[in-house]
Amino acid sequence: MLGVRVPVREAEKVRRELHRKGLIARGYRIKRMNDVVLIPVEERARRELLNYELVEAEFEPLRRRRSFEEILKEKLTPEELALVKRSFDIIGDIAVVEVPPELEHRKRDIALALMEAHKNVRAVFRKAGEVGGTTRVRRLEHLAGDRRTETLHREHGLRLKLDIAKVYFSPRLAYERQRILEQVRDGEVVVDLFAGVGPFSLLIARHRLVKVYAIDINPEAVRYLKENIALNRLRGEVIPLSGNSRQVAPRGVATRVIMNLPTRSDAYLGLAFEVLRSEGGVVHYYTVAPEESLQDKVELASRVAERAGRKVEVLERRIVRTYSPRKYHVALDLRVF
Ligand SMILES: C[S@@+](CC[C@H](N)C(=O)[O-])C[C@H]1O[C@@H](n2cnc3c(N)ncnc32)[C@H](O)[C@@H]1O
Repeated sequence: MLGVRVPVREAEKVRRELHRKGLIARGYRIKRMNDVVLIPVEERARRELLNYELVEAEFEPLRRRRSFEEILKEKLTPEELALVKRSFDIIGDIAVVEVPPELEHRKRDIALALMEAHKNVRAVFRKAGEVGGTTRVRRLEHLAGDRRTETLHREHGLRLKLDIAKVYFSPRLAYERQRILEQVRDGEVVVDLFAGVGPFSLLIARHRLVKVYAIDINPEAVRYLKENIALNRLRGEVIPLSGNSRQVAPRGVATRVIMNLPTRSDAYLGLAFEVLRSEGGVVHYYTVAPEESLQDKVELASRVAERAGRKVEVLERRIVRTYSPRKYHVALDLRVF
């Protein structure tokens, strides 16, 4: 087939020009031989190109990357394939998958298929338990690739360094973080009561001229939070605080409080109201509830507020994701007076 022959030093410039003109032949690999490069081009390049050397050459076809599904189809029986969980998380360059016990004997095939389909994935771990305990960390089992749990995750232009075996982090909350950011204005004081490695706090401080107190009880999370403060260019200020937010949260300062500890946040509503300024503000209350009893959570917040001499009004309610078959992880944005 037809190719354009150029010296290596001009190759990128010529490739771009050919690309702009739509002349590059798709599906073939560009060839490099010592100090010349051969770029595969369409036949019509004969008529359009006068300035470049045209040659006849063999080009290797580009192999299309096969999907996770396609690779699995080759390795597993249809019955096994039906049991594979298709959703998985990619945190930095590490994938975290769920493998049902019936596929125990296939776990490595599944992990290798995932690595083949996603070239950016360097390690695969299996969820080996529920998220649990105070630090909300889960046990993991290594399935394939690097035996490493520390990674650098990118989200909304932020760089978040973290260890998936030592701290909580979910890439599934990316939209939720953006949603909160859009509500924050310059000049606010935010208290992130359960900050983890800082995805909410850092995103807000990156885009707004604010002061954010970011608190976590897990010393590992605070260690990464501090690293992440240094890793990102921020407009605002993030003040990391290590310890139980009940003890270390500043009182009477916040215009906004983030309570991202859905399974236990009910018990911290009183604290959130104490952290707010006396003139009030907004509380982002994350909790777990069946859809039909969401109103119970609103009533709970109202009762706690009343005891603190405050009133609440729901600004927005949103299902963040499914928590268990009938329960949802929900976000209630509360205006507190
Ligand atoms: C569900 S994670 C959320 C982390 C972070 N907001 C995120 O989106 O990645 C909850 C975090 O709260 C921390 N935590 C739990 N109880 C706490 C407490 N009483 N005071 C401060 N942090 C706490 C855990 O260590 C964990 O990092």
